[in-house]
Amino acid sequence: MALKMRIVIKIGGALIAKNFQNVVNDLEKIKMNPGKNYEILIVHGGGPQIDEILVKLNLKPKYFETPLGFRTRYTDQETIDAVIMSLAGLNNKRIVEALQKKGINAVGLTGLDGGIILAERKDKIMVLVNGKRIIKRGEYSGKVIEVNTEILEFLLNTGYLPVIGSIAKSKEGEIVNIDGDRAAANIASALNADLLISITDVEGIYKNFDDKKSLISKINKNQLENLINELKGGMKKKAHAILEAINLGVKKIIICSGLRESPLFDAIEQEKGTVIINE
Ligand SMILES: Nc1ncnc2c1ncn2[C@@H]1O[C@H](COP(=O)(O)OP(=O)(O)OP(=O)(O)O)[C@@H](O)[C@H]1O
Ligand SMILES: [Mg+2]
Repeated sequence: MALKMRIVIKIGGALIAKNFQNVVNDLEKIKMNPGKNYEILIVHGGGPQIDEILVKLNLKPKYFETPLGFRTRYTDQETIDAVIMSLAGLNNKRIVEALQKKGINAVGLTGLDGGIILAERKDKIMVLVNGKRIIKRGEYSGKVIEVNTEILEFLLNTGYLPVIGSIAKSKEGEIVNIDGDRAAANIASALNADLLISITDVEGIYKNFDDKKSLISKINKNQLENLINELKGGMKKKAHAILEAINLGVKKIIICSGLRESPLFDAIEQEKGTVIINE
């Protein structure tokens, strides 16, 4: 039997907010074509959907800037509830539903379930308020420490498509919010994936986001390290996660848009998007 190519796909909340049907259609084509010997696992985020749920609950999304210039969510008690509703609920089950409709046997889980992702809880975060450093306590987010691949290997080996929402279990057993791209980076590394694809709502990394001609088609680790401080918003965070993936041994990462007609085939077969390589 031919060796299977193992691919971890991260579907961003940014794309889910628009339309992820083209990704699902490509997955159906892959499944219908036995010649496409791919083993696929999906990790997803849900930033905009968490905000939507908070607003429906008459609560406010809370964001701060960190001293290092990242925009970060303050995940307090009421926010972690909305995180669970989105990542273990709506987003996760809507993706599973879309795949099941196409006859793909998807299984929706999170990093909490079966202790798939273990994280270190940051119970406080340092943020800037009017230029001053302030410590916010009662934070429920975490940094991935370890991925337990047993359940994932079982699902992949038996032909299921795992769909993993990016929350994790802390050492104390609490639910913590983790960054979707960093979850995907750690899972791709633990599963020895051949490729990590981060699917979002833009074509890749633009050197200058205002200049649509500045899309980067290929970049290596050192070049990305040098570029990261010029990036902003979600892409700066994503670039950080991609560097983590590279440092964890993932050989190839592609950031691409799920709004393309055929996002997965374009990425896998034509390297459309921004390709990041470990060299
Ligand atoms: N230089 C840049 N190149 C590309 N995108 C950029 C750049 N600077 C900022 N961005 C923004 O980064 C966004 C992608 O990151 P974002 O975190 O919003 O999406 P995601 O990771 O797919 O979703 P989520 O974090 O909810 O899972 C784009 O929609 C774009 O607006
Ligand atoms: Mg993001």
